Amino acid sequence: MEMLLDGGDVEFFLFHDIPLLVTGLAMARRMFQGQNAGAADRFDILFNTLDSMKPMRILFVCLGNICRSPLAEGILQQQAAEAGLEIIVDSAGTGGWHVGDAPDPRSIAVAARHGIDISGQRCRRVTPEDFGNFDLIFGMDRRNVDHLRALAPDAAQMRIHLFLDYALGTATDVPDPYYESEDGFETVYRMLSAGCSSLIGRLDERFS
Ligand code: 4NP
Repeated sequence: MEMLLDGGDVEFFLFHDIPLLVTGLAMARRMFQGQNAGAADRFDILFNTLDSMKPMRILFVCLGNICRSPLAEGILQQQAAEAGLEIIVDSAGTGGWHVGDAPDPRSIAVAARHGIDISGQRCRRVTPEDFGNFDLIFGMDRRNVDHLRALAPDAAQMRIHLFLDYALGTATDVPDPYYESEDGFETVYRMLSAGCSSLIGRLDERFS
C-alpha cells in the first residue's frame, strides 16, 4: 500500500506520537500488573516494540555548558544527520553561572572551522526531569559524572556514563578547556569527534 507521508509527518510520529504511546502503555501496564498476567505480557510486547522505535535521547553534560557539552551536542547532531540516524541530542551544565548564554566564542569558532554552527545554542543547567527524559547521559569528565550520580535517582544511575569510556572504551576525561588557549579547544574537538563517530557506530548497531 502506498504511504502518503512526508518527512514532517514521519518526524512528528517518531518524536511526538511514539513517546506519547509508550508513556500511555507504561501507565496501562502498571494497571494490569499483578492482576492479569496475560494482559500485562501483551502490553510488555507492545511496549517494548514501540520503545525500541523511539529515537534515542542523549544528553551531554559538562560543568559550565558553554565549552565542551555544546560542542559535543553540535558534533553528534551533525554526525547523526550524516549517518541518517534519528536521535535527540541536548546538553546541560552542572553549574549555573552561564545560564541563557551562547557557547564560549572559542567553542563556536572551533565548531565553525569544522562546518558546524553551534551559535544558536543557549546554556542551561541539568534538571531533575533530565534523568527521566534521556536514555544516555554523558559526563565529559569524572567530576561531572560524580556530580550527575549524586543528583540522579536510582533508576537513572545506569544511564550515566563517562563519555569517552562509553564511546571508546578509554576511561579518559575530556579536559576542561575554559582556562586554556585556542589549541585546547581543537584538542577537545578532536576527542569529541572521535567519541561521537564511535558512538554513532554503536547506536547504528542497535537500530540495524
Ligand atoms: P565547560 O567549561 O564545563 O566545558 O563548559 C567551563 C565553562 C565555564 C566555567 C567552567 C568550565 N566557569 O567556571 O565559568
